[in-house]
Amino acid sequence: MSRSTTLLLSSTLCTSLLMGCSAGPAPVSFKSEVKPLVEKYCTECHLPGGAGAEASGFITDSYENLMKGTKFGPVVVAGDPLSSSFYRLIAGKVDPSIRMPHGKEALSEVEIATVENWITQGAGNN
Ligand code: HEC
Repeated sequence: MSRSTTLLLSSTLCTSLLMGCSAGPAPVSFKSEVKPLVEKYCTECHLPGGAGAEASGFITDSYENLMKGTKFGPVVVAGDPLSSSFYRLIAGKVDPSIRMPHGKEALSEVEIATVENWITQGAGNN
């Protein structure tokens, strides 16, 4: 095994140990926590043919499409919720009048924090 591979492996191990053991928020699962929120609040308008999908190109039927973002670029910047329009829009930080889900009841504080923590933790497909 080359030296750089060993370094890479040990830094990956440290990251996962830190995420498991630090006092920060518990690791968020995309599949069991974020995906159900997306299905509940976004998919109605962000499937192909839906109003949001037509207007922005943002399709939320899979992790891959979610990460692809809109026709203008990504909406999730892994590690940086404040640069992620996905988070900024649901939290009303872009402009409260264009909050997502568009024209519907906002996500709860806990749900918004789940998305924020998932992005902070790297926005993986875990
Ligand atoms: C009731 C329909 C509807 C729902 C539900 C909805 N959207 Fe949208 N979305 C839209 C429409 C319409 C647009 C395009 C209008 C615009 O860009 O102002 C849009 C645009 C977007 C954009 C692109 C905005 C931009 O400025 O590039 C993002 C990102 C987005 N939605 C995320 C979400 C997320 C995340 C959810 C779920 C929490 C969601 N939307 C739920 C209708 C909806």
